[in-house]
Order: sequence, then C-alpha cells, then structure tokens
Amino acid sequence: MEYARYDSPTSHALEDVIGGLEGGQATVFASGMAAANAAMDLVPMGAVIVAPSAAYTGVAVRLRELEGIGRIQLRVVEVDNTAAVVAACHGAEMLWLESPTNPMMQVADLPTCITAAHANDALVLVDNTFATPILQQPISQGADIIMHSVTKALSGHSDLLLGALVSTNAEITEGIRTRRVLLGALPSAFDCYLALRGVRTLAVRIEKAQANAQIITALLSEHAAVSKVRYPGFGTMAAIEIAQGAGAADAVCASTNLWAHATSLGGVESLLERRRRWPLESETVPPDLIRLSFGIENPDDLWRDLKQALDLVLSG
Ligand SMILES: Cc1ncc(COP(=O)(O)O)c(C=O)c1O
Repeated sequence: MEYARYDSPTSHALEDVIGGLEGGQATVFASGMAAANAAMDLVPMGAVIVAPSAAYTGVAVRLRELEGIGRIQLRVVEVDNTAAVVAACHGAEMLWLESPTNPMMQVADLPTCITAAHANDALVLVDNTFATPILQQPISQGADIIMHSVTKALSGHSDLLLGALVSTNAEITEGIRTRRVLLGALPSAFDCYLALRGVRTLAVRIEKAQANAQIITALLSEHAAVSKVRYPGFGTMAAIEIAQGAGAADAVCASTNLWAHATSLGGVESLLERRRRWPLESETVPPDLIRLSFGIENPDDLWRDLKQALDLVLSG
C-alpha cells in the first residue's frame, strides 16, 4: 500500500471474500455505479455495447449518455429474447447483461448469450447483483467480468455504498485496477469492514429471503388487485403490477407498515417501490409496477401487511 487512493488492507480482505464467492479476482469500488463506470471505460472509442432495454436505471442512463457523446454505440435488447441478443452481438465489443434484470425480472440464457458474444470477440459483463453468487456464478458459465452493487445483498444491511468487479483475466483486472486509481473510486475502509461483517451471513439471508419470496409471490398471484407477478422462481427480488394503475400502486406503497417504501434492495428488511416514480426509469417499465425486495422477516407478518395494503385498493 503506497497511498490511500490505491488500496487498503480492509479492501483487500473484502476482495478476497467476493473473489472467492464469484471465482475470480475482485476489485472493490466506492459504489456499484463507480464499478459500472470503470467497466464501461474498458472498451475502445466508438465500441458497440449490447445492453438490456431496462438495465438498472443508473447503468441505462449512463450508457445512453456515453452514446450521446459518441463514446460508444449502444444496441438495446430484451435479454430474455435470446435470438435478439445473439444477433445484436455481431460486431459488438461488449455484451452487458443483467439477469434477472432490475426491475423487469427478465432472465437471460447466459451460456448461449456468452457463447455468441465470444464468437464475436466481445467481452461479457454480468451484473450479478440480483442473483448473488449464492444462486448464480456467471464466471463458471464463461463471463469475463462480474459486476456487483455490493450495497445490496452482499453487504445486506442497507447501511453502506460499495461496488465490485470480478474477473479471472489478469489483463482485465489490471485495467480495472488502473481505472479505480485514476477515477478515485476506492471505497472507504470502514464500508469494507461493514461489508465484511454483512457478507458472513449472505448464504442464510439468501435462503430465508428466497423462501419468503417464493411463499409470497404464490399468494400475490391469487390476489385480485395484482394483474401480474414477475418472479423467475429463484432469488429474493420480484415485481408486481397493480390492476387499478399507477395511482393505486402508489397507494399500496403508502399503506404498508412492515414493508418500507424505499429504493434500495437486498437488505434484511423487506422493501417495496413503484419504480416509475423516478423520472429517469425506463419507459419500458409499466407505470403500475411495484418492485419487491424480500427480507428475512416472518412470512406471515409480511403477507398480512402486504395483503391489507392490496385489500385497501380493492375497497376503493
Ligand atoms: C442491478 C444493479 N446494478 C447496479 C446498481 C448500482 O449500484 P450502487 O447504488 O451501489 O451504485 C444497482 C443499484 O440499485 C442495481 O440494482
């Protein structure tokens, strides 16, 4: 360690853990977006990047910005349309995937998409924030770079901002580390320490939150106020659409007590949010869509609270 912007013993310790979980060399960043920006910097001027139509808002907005200034060419795809992803990879330098996507919960056929990208010598980045390495390890399926908003499930307590990139390729890791130094994006040692405490319980938190998600999404699909449940069958995130529209969705979010109406996700407490309340959210996200982040509370308590909020909408 030569200077505090380069690294710290605590950031190294966290990198060992995240790298071990994902199966590569991790580099931690001051936020998920700092990690994302470093990854976007890896492609040459004018490169074609293929990305999800409704990627995480910050990522989608930044990619559009880079396209607007001529830094990249952006090709937007629905990641669950495998044929479209494969076709878009032709001549691309990078395939940027989220699976499941935030907040549409679309799942990509990772092996097929990764093979198509590699056939075009494109780098493949997978944002693994939603699935976590407990449920999905894209490096073992051939991905070149894994991205995390460590802010979310990896740290698990909604009390810090942190990001990570993981790769098995030494040259890519070198490029990533140079970006972190030059962008000044090292996380604080204290946040790394908090993340190290949080990640110790990752496996049990995911197990419990996933069980809650499975129980409650099944109940939601029976509720008359819910027109659609988006849940891929695994993981701790889901989304629902409210039959009575965006105003009713806002009313649901305002009427829960145990579920907090808040933007983050992946913590021990359950959160819900109507995503289109944010002006920058993609217009492909339905206005009445509520994203659900399942925590580790008692599922009966969670359902009672959500059900009374949904019942209120039905009673007008
Ligand atoms: C899937 C995904 N990727 C990246 C980010 C950005 O992470 P951060 O808020 O840590 O910068 C988020 C944040 O919500 C996210 O949900």
